[in-house]
Amino acid sequence: MLLMKIPESLAKQGKERIKNYPVEGFVYGEGPDHPVIMLVGEAPGETEIHNGIPFSGRAGKELMQSLDFLGLTRDDVYITSAVRSRPYKWGEKKDRKSGEMIKRKYNRAPTGGEIKAHAPILDYEVKHVNAPIIVTLGNIGLQRLAGKDKKVTQVHGQLLKQPVQYLENPDAGFKWTEEAYEIFPTFHPAAIFYNRSLDEKLKEDLVKLKKLIEDRGLKNEQGRT
Ligand code: URA
Repeated sequence: MLLMKIPESLAKQGKERIKNYPVEGFVYGEGPDHPVIMLVGEAPGETEIHNGIPFSGRAGKELMQSLDFLGLTRDDVYITSAVRSRPYKWGEKKDRKSGEMIKRKYNRAPTGGEIKAHAPILDYEVKHVNAPIIVTLGNIGLQRLAGKDKKVTQVHGQLLKQPVQYLENPDAGFKWTEEAYEIFPTFHPAAIFYNRSLDEKLKEDLVKLKKLIEDRGLKNEQGRT
């Protein structure tokens, strides 16, 4: 099994383009170059920027349960996100021991500028990872690839066959690829914490995705070069 690696020059360019935004760290996508599926999240959180492993925090635990249900492990899939650095905002929290207010960083959704700054990285992955199905997790990943008019609440659990957006020129807008890709949108695992009623819908999506993977024999194809 060959691991997919983006060119270091692309990572360097991404770090440079995002450096003036309130973000920290840089997490690479991870997985084989012929995965069963490719997962596209939003942006890493605190855990991920410390250990460099995508989806290794609380949302990651939830995601691993979904993979388990699909009969897959982390090694079968390519995991990435729209933005590779952790977008944060400052907030205050009361220290439990001292009662003092302490300043700390909170996660926030990436902005359009941050998504554009790291767009060439995801563009490269979409092109080179050779994933038969791209599973977007939440609205950020979905809209980055399938366009702003898509809403996860409306299209989750459906297999979309369409061009994806890519950014050729950072000063211009996104363009559409000539080739069509298969995109399966579902919810972001962190959304489940805030809205447990999504649990049922996520389960239904996973049943559909599992059937798709089995019907196409994707699990058995994984590892081919
Ligand atoms: N959310 C993401 O989109 N990616 C991570 O790695 C963690 C949380």
